[in-house]
Amino acid sequence: MKRTPHTITISGAGSCRTPALIGTLMQMKDRFPVKKVIFFDKDLNRFGKIEDYCRLLLHTFSPETEVVVTGDMDEAYCACDFVFCQMRVGQNTMRSYDEKIPLKYGLVGQETCGPGGFAYGMRSIGGMKEMVDCVRKYSKETWILNYTNPAAIVGLALDRLYPDDHRLINMCDQPYSMMVSFAKILNVDVKTLRARYFGLNHFGWFTALYDTEGHDYFDTLRDYLMNHDFKPYNAEQRTKSWLDTYLRVNKMMNCVSEYIPTTYLQYYFYADEIVKESDPQFTRADETILTREKEVWDVCALARGKNELGEIPVLTSPVFGSMMVEVAESIAYDLNQEFIVMTRNTGLIDNFPAEAVVEVAGTLGKDGVRGIPYGPVKTFYKGLMENQYAYEELTCEAWMEKDYTKALQALTLNRTVNDFDKAKAVLDDLMEVNQDYWTLEKRD
Ligand code: G6P
Ligand code: MN
Repeated sequence: MKRTPHTITISGAGSCRTPALIGTLMQMKDRFPVKKVIFFDKDLNRFGKIEDYCRLLLHTFSPETEVVVTGDMDEAYCACDFVFCQMRVGQNTMRSYDEKIPLKYGLVGQETCGPGGFAYGMRSIGGMKEMVDCVRKYSKETWILNYTNPAAIVGLALDRLYPDDHRLINMCDQPYSMMVSFAKILNVDVKTLRARYFGLNHFGWFTALYDTEGHDYFDTLRDYLMNHDFKPYNAEQRTKSWLDTYLRVNKMMNCVSEYIPTTYLQYYFYADEIVKESDPQFTRADETILTREKEVWDVCALARGKNELGEIPVLTSPVFGSMMVEVAESIAYDLNQEFIVMTRNTGLIDNFPAEAVVEVAGTLGKDGVRGIPYGPVKTFYKGLMENQYAYEELTCEAWMEKDYTKALQALTLNRTVNDFDKAKAVLDDLMEVNQDYWTLEKRD
C-alpha cells in the first residue's frame, strides 16, 4: 500500500548534517515519502552553503516534493506534520566557549557533559521553548522530533514545561550508533538486533543484546570488548578524539564489566585524564569545523548553480539520518519499532524517581513513546544516576527561576566539577559569555 506523504520542517537546517539527512531521506523515500520539505534556519546565510545541494537532491530523487526555505518561524511551523529539530543555539561560536572555558579551570570541556553541557543546556531550553510554543500555536497534532543537545537537559526541561505533550519526543543517536558498531563486530544485521539499556541520556548502560530470533549476543560482545579495541562502525572516518572515546569503553569495562557503558560516561570516570589530553586552544568545535563541516561544504559547493546531479556524491548518514527517518516512519505508520528512547520514568526503572526523564529501550508508534519496563537498577548505577539527575533537575530549575544559587549547586553536583570554588569560577565565566542567551540572579 502506498504510504501517505508528509510535510516536514527541518529546524536548524543550516547544520552541516542536513545534506546527509536529505540524502538519507531520499534513499528511504518509499518508506517515508515527503510532500513538502521546509528548511528553517534563523541564519539563512549558513543554510546558503548547502541550499543548492539539498535542492538538487530533492529535485533529482523526489521532484514531486515541494521545497520551501524560510527564516520566518511562523511560515516554518504553521502547517507541518513533523518537525525534525536539530537547532544549535549559539552555533559553533558558543560551542567553542562551552568547551574552552571549563578547560581554563582544569575541568572537562565538552558540549553535553560538565559545565559546557550546562551552559549549552541553558541556551537550548530557551530556543526549544520558543519553537514548541510556535508549533503549538498552530497545531497540537504536529510531531516534534527533537535531536537538539544536550538532550538530557532539553528533554527534562520540555517534560516539565509541556507535561501532557506526548507528540514532543527527544532522541539521541549515540545508543543507535553503538548498536551499529556492535552489529559490525558481531557480523549481524543491526535491524535484527534488540537491546536492553538503562540510564539517563549520555549516561547509560547496555545490559542485554539479542536478535529477533532470540539469540543472545551479550556475553559474546562483552568478552570481545574485554579483549579487543572497541572501534566505531565507521572508524576510518573518525578523528582521533572519537577513536579515543570508544577505546575508553574498553577501559571502563576493565574496571566494571557487567554492562556495556555508553561512550559519554568517559567524561565522568576519566575527567582528569581527558582534561590532560585536551588542548584548551583547539577543541572539538574547532575539529568539526576543519573536518566534518569542511567536507560537507566542499561536496555541497559542487552543486552550486547545477541542474543535474551527475557525478556529485549523494551524502547519506547511516546513523543520525537513518534514525531520524526511521523514528518518523515508525510514528507516522504506527510501526512500533524498537529504539533506545528518552521518556518520563513513571516506574520503568522502578527504584528511580518517577518524574525523571530516563533513557531505556522502548517503541515508537501513533501514541508516541512507550518505554519497556526495566526493573530496578543496582546501587552503583543508582547512585551515579541520582547524582546526575539532581544536576539535571537543578539546571532546569536554575533556567526557569533564573536562580544563581541553583546553577551553582547544579555545577557543584556535576561529577566533572565537584568543587564549589571551581563551580563558581566556571559559572561566572560562562554567564558572562552567555549574556545574550540566559541570565541568573543572585538572591541571597
Ligand atoms: C554523538 C552524540 C550526539 C552528538 C554527536 C556529534 O552521536 O550522541 O549527541 O551531537 O555525537 O558530536 P560531535 O562532537 O562529532 O559534533
Ligand atoms: Mn546524543
